[in-house]
This record gives sequence, C-alpha cells and structure tokens, in this order.
Amino acid sequence: MPDPTLPAARTVAELRAAVSAWRGAGRRVALVPTMGALHEGHLSLVRLGKSKADHVVASIFVNPTQFAPGEDFEAYPRDEARDAALLAGAGCDLLYAPTVAEMYPPGFSTSVDVGGVSTPLDGLARPTHFAGVATVVTKLLLQCRPDVAIFGEKDFQQLLVIRRLARDLDLPVEILGGPTKRDVDGLALSSRNAYLSVEERRVAGTLNLALKTAAEALAAGAAVDSVEAEAKARIASAGFGSIDYVEVRAEDDLGRLGPGPLESPARIFVAARIGRTRLIDNWPVRTPVT
Ligand code: PAJ
Repeated sequence: MPDPTLPAARTVAELRAAVSAWRGAGRRVALVPTMGALHEGHLSLVRLGKSKADHVVASIFVNPTQFAPGEDFEAYPRDEARDAALLAGAGCDLLYAPTVAEMYPPGFSTSVDVGGVSTPLDGLARPTHFAGVATVVTKLLLQCRPDVAIFGEKDFQQLLVIRRLARDLDLPVEILGGPTKRDVDGLALSSRNAYLSVEERRVAGTLNLALKTAAEALAAGAAVDSVEAEAKARIASAGFGSIDYVEVRAEDDLGRLGPGPLESPARIFVAARIGRTRLIDNWPVRTPVT
C-alpha cells in the first residue's frame, strides 16, 4: 500500500529547499503542473515523470490569470486531500500547492506573451488564456527548476506554447508530452467532465468519434475544407450547443493547412460547448505521406 500522506510545499522557499536537496545529491527531478481535480490523465503524467526522473513534483494551483471573467475559476473543483492520496499512489514525491498570494504577490506585473502558436484556436476563443498559462508555467519552471516537465497532448496547443516559451527563454528544462487518456467511449478525461449531466456526458462521448472519422477521411486523401465542414455538422447534430472551432492544423506550428488533401503532419482540433461546459480535444492525422 502506498503511503497516502504526501509531503507538501506551500511556498517557493519550501519547494526550492526540497528540490535543491535532491539535485545536490545528483538526482533528476520531474515537474507535473496541474490545477488539481486529478484523474487518470494527470496520474499518467506523474508515472511518465517517474520513468524519466528520480523524483516527481506535482503542482496543484488553480491559476486565476488563465480564466477570463465569467469562466469557471470559482466553480473549478478543488479537493486537495483526494488529489494528494492519488498523487502518492502514482509515485509522486512532493506536492507543491502555493496560495494565490504566494504566486502573485502584491505588485505582480509581469506577463509572458508567446506569439505564433498562441494565436489561433483557443488563442482566438479565449484571448487572455495563453498569457495566463505561459506566465504561471514560466514561474513554476523557475521556482522548481526541474530537469524535465511533463504536459498532456490533450491540451496540444498548450504543449506547443510551453515548448516555445522554454526554447525562447532558454529555460534549462526538457518539455515532454504525454498521450491523452480517454474513458471507455473515447471521451478525453478532463476535470471539467465532472460538470456534465448524464445526458450531456453521453453526447460528449461522440466528440472523439467525429475527430477520429475526420482524421481517417483526411488520411484517405479527402480535402481539408470538406472534412472540417462535415465534422462540424456531425458535432452540431450530436447535440453540442456551440462550436468554437473544428480545424485541421500543422502539428509543429499550428499553421493553416488545406483546402485540399494534406501534405504534412497534421492534427484536427475541436472546442465545443455542451450546456455550460466547454470541451476541447484533438486527434492526429496519419497520412501515407506523413
Ligand atoms: P490541468 O487541466 O489540470 O492539466 C494538467 C496537465 O494534465 C496538463 O498538461 C494537461 O494537458 C494534462 N491532461 C489533462 N487531461 C489529460 C488527459 N486526458 N490525458 C493526458 N493528460 C491530460 O493544463 C492545466 O491544468 C493548466 O493549464 C496548467 C498547465 C497546470 C497551468 O496552469
């Protein structure tokens, strides 16, 4: 039985003391940033971290700056005791759970603004979101100074934004992506799935199928614009309320592709609302030429 009690650092100083001791002993450290409400997707990243480093730090911080007014910052599920027990079971060595005041002390005025990969898709739908993510992740990386930091492909655009900022700011860390964990019907696990009613949860399970069907059509040589239109129609008729985007984009820089058949590695990205819940997902397109 894993020990359900997990050491916790609440301040930057406590985090640095623990990580410095490990690094001083020549150990490798992995960081897995999260906002809590943990599920198997998060835990798979902790296990991946454990396979790449001697010690894994998981952070839980519901970051106010990546939520816009009217989004679900207040409603976001919080249960640290449950999360800590799950982290301990997955092999995590330290929980870093700072307060908002520790992360953003009075007078805090800096923002990390990543261009390029931040601009399409969720960058258009949630204009302040990626600056909030980039700023907090830069802080977490500098506070912890891990050898490797792990992020999920579930939030593929976020992964690219973080890769870009680490490269551009010369942060001495390897950024690793972990595969998307899904429920039995293929719905990508997400802390926000807890908001769904039984009927909404059923409809949500069709989102990944629309992406998979679209990816298969693209792989078979169908034109990008018609595949996007068909996927959009399928998602709308399944019962989603509004669709922010269904777009095929280049896997490396999220550049626009099409309108004809694909000639380079791509992914299809979706953001759609069901009731008051906004879900995102993405699926790789594997064509013979890629
Ligand atoms: P959160 O949504 O809690 O996700 C934390 C990490 O878990 C992210 O890297 C995310 O991509 C990954 N993840 C979520 N669902 C997953 C799934 N089904 N399979 C695999 N990985 C999954 O993403 C954030 O928090 C925040 O933006 C954060 C990076 C912590 C900055 O505040």
